[in-house]
This record gives sequence, structure tokens and C-alpha cells, in this order.
Amino acid sequence: MGYRDTYASWQNDPESYWMNAAGAITWDVAPTKALFERGNDLYEWYADAQVNGCYNAVDRHVENGRGSQVAIIHDSPITGTKTKITYADLQTRVAALAGALVAQGVTKGDRVIIYMPMVPEALDAMLACARIGAVHSVVFGGFAANELAVRIDDCTPKAILAASCGLEPGRVVEYKPLLDGAIDLARHKPDVCLILQREQHPCDLTEGRDINWQTAVDSAEPADCVPVAGNHPAYILYTSGTTGAPKGVVRHTAGHLVALHWTMKNIYDVDPGDVFWAASDVGWVVGHSYICYAPLIAGNTTIVFEGKPIGTPDAGTFWRIIEEHNVRSFFTAPTAIRAVKREDPKGEFLAHYDISCLRALYLAGERADPDTIEWAQEKLGKPVYDHWWQTETGYTIAGNPAGLEALPVKIGSPTVPMPGYDVQILDDAGHAVAPGELGAIAIKLPLPPGTLPTLWNAEERYKKSYLTAFPGHYETGDAGMMDEDGYLYIMARTDDVINVAGHRLSTGAMEEVLAGHPDVAECAVVGVSDALKGQAPVGLVCLSNGVNRPHDEITAECVQRVRDQIGPVAAFKQALVVDRLPKTRSGKILRGTVVSIADNKPYKMPATIDDPVILDEIKAALQTIGYAKGD
Ligand code: COA
Ligand code: AMP
Repeated sequence: MGYRDTYASWQNDPESYWMNAAGAITWDVAPTKALFERGNDLYEWYADAQVNGCYNAVDRHVENGRGSQVAIIHDSPITGTKTKITYADLQTRVAALAGALVAQGVTKGDRVIIYMPMVPEALDAMLACARIGAVHSVVFGGFAANELAVRIDDCTPKAILAASCGLEPGRVVEYKPLLDGAIDLARHKPDVCLILQREQHPCDLTEGRDINWQTAVDSAEPADCVPVAGNHPAYILYTSGTTGAPKGVVRHTAGHLVALHWTMKNIYDVDPGDVFWAASDVGWVVGHSYICYAPLIAGNTTIVFEGKPIGTPDAGTFWRIIEEHNVRSFFTAPTAIRAVKREDPKGEFLAHYDISCLRALYLAGERADPDTIEWAQEKLGKPVYDHWWQTETGYTIAGNPAGLEALPVKIGSPTVPMPGYDVQILDDAGHAVAPGELGAIAIKLPLPPGTLPTLWNAEERYKKSYLTAFPGHYETGDAGMMDEDGYLYIMARTDDVINVAGHRLSTGAMEEVLAGHPDVAECAVVGVSDALKGQAPVGLVCLSNGVNRPHDEITAECVQRVRDQIGPVAAFKQALVVDRLPKTRSGKILRGTVVSIADNKPYKMPATIDDPVILDEIKAALQTIGYAKGD
């Protein structure tokens, strides 16, 4: 069946469609129905089933004869090591780690924070939690202690699993001081931390709280898979919203298993046994879904890559890995391809490798600009599929269902909505707009299995953030349009979220940090266009009366504050002192206008602007750091 028929079959009978898809999962108790309506626009999937995520990702493959197949390849150009772990090995490792958690009193429903670099133990940790029904929350290693502390307080973990260090090119990221700092800052204290000692930088353990990971695993009784209800949270993943407080996206177990399994063949066109590679990080949703869970649920081999697209050691690393590990489908962020293109515009590194095993390149996480897609298509000689999704959905909203039917690619469009997603383009009043017209992108409820049912401990925030703007719909926070053929185009965010190197960041969170500087009276952070990273944050700060220290000193402190409080991943490198911020008469800061000025884009003088002269001042300030140079 092709795409249109499949989509129609879902639309005609969603219940049968999703019960049918559920057949790919091994249930302890099968669901009696797919959708459970909870009222007030809340929905759950397969809620009356009993199932275990780890069993579906690991044990069942061993039982079905895949024990000797490689499950995980760790390829780390940073440490110069490569490791292969079979499904049988993975089962042993995960059962032991799960046993170590049980020995520390962790049981079903307890939260466990995972703060790890790109090592296979990060996947062991996620799967060990799933094995015993603990709810993991992975925190990206590029966040600072303060961000970790916020997450500790929100999900109140019983245990934290961390490594002694991460490795960035030319820099060891010591995790222990960050972990200690976070636990000091947090009101909630975990009972125990399991620390994976990496030989590149072992750390001292805190007595009475920290345990050596390996010692704990070596002495553990292996733990069995514990069945959980279909609506049991598999994990919480925090993502940026409009304010500094991150949103804890909840993922229920059963829907996540069914939906992710569906995507591996229908979108990524891989069969069990094929090698699938997502070059992302376990700290992001792409890492959850496509480094860890989906490829393992579908019986593929997944790659854990500890390196960068360039510099580890060169712009040929991606192609080396594809050849060496026989990768069939490859997924990364457009930024990564832009980095390779910048370093190797003629694609000369490709000549050193045979990438004939590769079927297609998949891009997501930020807008894929046409230049990047065209370059990759031409140099690789393979299809390049853009696809659009969010932490909230956990997998593709709109993409090219290549395993079902490869649709013609229209550059600039991530293609079409997947079954389960009734995507609507709405005007401010919530009316559907005509094809080709711009509007807010919303999805008619219910969202499909595997998407967020709520936010952790914040149901009202969930409703307010996603369900109130367009009653009966989920508000994606993206704006765009749909053409006559049903192809979707994603144009911009409608909120204060920006996307830097494929990383989702909140300008509001950065503003909160800048506002905390003793000399700053008010501030605005905007995301300006950046040739490599898509967007880059720029801070505009107004100083309090009477402050007469050198501006350079103050802006350097602002940059350091964001790095210390949010983390290096914010990539906040530029702050400017300005006399005033452009505002409407009602006091709303005109961030969009500032971005247009910085990017040399035409803009309409806002009718309600308080004082238009301020825009000239802002333009002059932006020019001092290389922006707004258009005329
Ligand atoms: N732990 C600690 N620090 C980290 C980190 C981690 N896991 N990941 C990134 N950082 C640091 C970087 O070292 C850098 O620090 P610096 O300011 O000291 O240089 C900072 O955070 C910003 O990182 P980034 O924006 O990623 O820039 P970069 O210059 O290190 O690399 C790219 C640029 C394009 C190579 C890189 O961003 C990349 O590979 N992007 C792909 C994005 C991706 O996979 N996104 C996931 C969604 S699919
Ligand atoms: P995240 O939750 O980190 O995956 O970020 C989700 C946001 O990234 C989306 O809401 C979009 O704004 C943006 N995004 C992700 N994929 C795409 C894409 N293919 N095209 C355009 N924007 C994208």
C-alpha cells in the first residue's frame, strides 16, 4: 500500500490502524483497545496493556535468534576506540545494571537521572531503567550544573547515573564538579549516584553517596524485565519552552514502542539486521528515539558516535563510519552537513570511501536550507529526506515515508504528514487557511501513539502551552504552510524558542540569566541567522543608571554567566550594551524586528512602536559585531 492509501486507512479507522501496528510489539498483556480518552482533551494509548520496553528492545531479539548480532557499535574517534556489543552482551550488561539499581532500592516508578556522554553505558542506563520500570530523565552533557539542578528538583530522582567525564575536541568536560554543583544547588537530593569511571579522567567519589558503576554492576544480581502498564512513563525529557523553566515531556511506554517500531521500516526503510545511524546525542530526543530505542526495538544495529562531523579527525568521519559499519540509513542535523560542506566544499573526502551501502540521508532538528540539501544530494548521489518533528512528538510529524513509498522530494519541504497526524494550518482565529497561505501549524487531537500525553507534574502547563490556543488541537509552536499537494513547509517558530546547531534553546531562559547580572536593568535575547548553526543568540542589555564600568567587561561577564548557568551548548557568545530596547507602546519588546534588522531582511515599521529612532541605534550596535550590514 502506498502513502495516500495508508494515510487514508488510518483516517478511516484510526483504532484498527493502531491496533494493527501494535502487533509488532511483544506484550505481557495485549491491549484491548488503542485509544483511551481521559476527558478535557487528554488521551492515552494502549493504557490497559502490560509490556516492558527493555524486553522489546533487547531480550526478545536474543530469544528470537539475534543474540550474536551486533546491537550497538560504539565508534569514538575522540578516544580512538571502537567497540561492538551483541544483543546477548547487551542483555547481560543491562540486566546487571538493572540489578545494581534494584540493589540501591530503585523500583518501578522511581525517577533516575542519566548525565552521560556518548558511551554505550548511556544506552545501558536507559534500558536498565526500562527493564525495572524506573523512569529515566537524560540530561544533555553540555548543560551546566544549574540546568541539571532544575531537572533534579522537578523529577526528584532516587538515583543519578553519571560518568566521570565527557570529551569534547581538545577539552575534557569534568562531570563530577557539575554533578556535585547541581546536587548542592538542588533542594531534592538523590539517594545514590553511580559513577562510570572513564580512564581519560577518573574522579573522586563522594563517600556515602557515590558508588563505582563497575563495582556495582560486577556484584549485582541480574534483574528481570518488570511488566508495566501501557501508560507507565518510560521517560521524562526536558525541553526548552518560552520561560527559563524547561518542560518535562512525558513519554508513555506502549505508544512509544508501537510508534517507533512503525517508523523504522516505513520512514527509514531499514529491516531487522540493517545498520542504522543517528549522529546525535542521547541527551536529545533524536538520541532517545533513534540512537537507543527505535533501532533496538526493530532489531537493527545502532551506532553510538562520540565525535563531531569535523575535526575528529576530519570532514570524512561520517563517510568513514558509513563505509566501515555498512550503514544503510543515516540521520543527522543540517548543521552537521553544513559543517562538513564548509570544511570540504568539493566533497573530496568522499572519494576516499565507498558509501554504496547507504540508501538515504535523513535530516531533522532545524530547518534544512536548500543549499545544504542540494550539496548533499549531489555529493552523495543519494536521496536526502528532510523530516520535521519535535521533542514532544518523539518521531516524525511530516516526512518522506520512503519505506512505504518514496515521494518526490520538494526542496524546502519535509514532505507530508505521517499517518496519525492530522496537520492543519490555522489563522489566529483558528480557521484553516487556504493552501499556500502561512499560518500556525496545529495538529488535530488526539495526537498519535508515542507523543506526549502531558508534562511531568504540570498538567495545567501542558494544557496552557499546547491545547488552549486552538481548541481541539495541539499547537506545535511552528508556523508554515501546506501546498496544493499536501506538502508541508516549516517557516519559523511562533514563540521564543531558537534553534542553534540543531539544539533547541529558550531565549527567555537566557534573558533570565542576563537579567540576574547586577548591572543589567533590562535585556532581550534574539536568534539571528548564522551560516553554520542556523541561528545564534545575541543579547542586548541596557545598564542600570549610574553604571559606568567598561562595556566590554560587562558583556564578557554576560557571556560567562550564560555559559556557567545554562551551559556551553547555549553558544551564547555575543552581547551588546544598548541605551534602550525597541518596544511597542504597551511595552512588548520587538524581538522579531531586531532579528530582521540583524539579518538584513525587510520589515514593516511596527505601527505601535514607542520610538522608531531606537531601531537605528540597534542597527548601529548590531553592525559593530558584524550584523545588519545590508545597505
Ligand atoms: N558536553 C559538553 N559540552 C558540549 C557538548 C557536550 N555533550 N556538546 C557541545 N558542547 C559544547 C561544545 O564543545 C561547544 O563549546 P565551546 O563553546 O567551548 O566551543 C559548545 O557546547 C557549543 O557546541 P555546538 O553548538 O555544538 O558547536 P561546536 O562548535 O562544538 O560544533 C557542530 C558545531 C556543527 C560541529 C555541532 O554543533 C554539531 O555536530 N551539530 C549537530 C547537532 C546535532 O546533532 N543535533 C541534535 C539534533 S538532531
Ligand atoms: P526539538 O524539540 O529539539 O526536536 O526541536 C523541535 C523544533 O525544531 C521544531 O518545533 C522546529 O521548530 C524545529 N525543527 C525540527 N525539525 C525541523 C525541520 N525538518 N524543518 C524545520 N524546522 C524543524
